[in-house]
Amino acid sequence: MYSEKVMDHFMNPRNVGEIENASGVGTVGNAKCGDIMKVYLQIEDGIIKDAKFKTFGCGAAVATSSMATELVIGKTIEEALKITNKSVAEALDGLPPVKMHCSLLAEESLHAALWDYAKKNNITIEGLKEPVADVHDHDHHDHDHEEGSGCC
Ligand code: FES
Repeated sequence: MYSEKVMDHFMNPRNVGEIENASGVGTVGNAKCGDIMKVYLQIEDGIIKDAKFKTFGCGAAVATSSMATELVIGKTIEEALKITNKSVAEALDGLPPVKMHCSLLAEESLHAALWDYAKKNNITIEGLKEPVADVHDHDHHDHDHEEGSGCC
């Protein structure tokens, strides 16, 4: 059911933890399954120098947050904004369709951390929308979640 990459990132997640005095912190949850993801970003001169996460959630949520932090480190803010739940899932060699919604947590928590960074620095990041606290209610363009799609 899961690719080797998903299993690897689930068993050995990268960048677990928190960043003290992070430039931006984002927390989102999915009220339906109760899973929560928190992302910390360290941003210097417009570049994401470091990213860490804590996920209280299913294996797909852990694997996607691990991969999302890997993808975002070293990127500019503009590049980071292009990371979507689909690109994270692709980098993991795919997710089962019923688990695609889990990857939304990774995208949304990343965006929430960038939003927090922008707020703290009193800047506007073009193309960044105000994050939602609950991805389940969010009408997302890549929304793959359907009723009864099998949260853990
Ligand atoms: Fe809730 Fe995966 S994020 S089941």
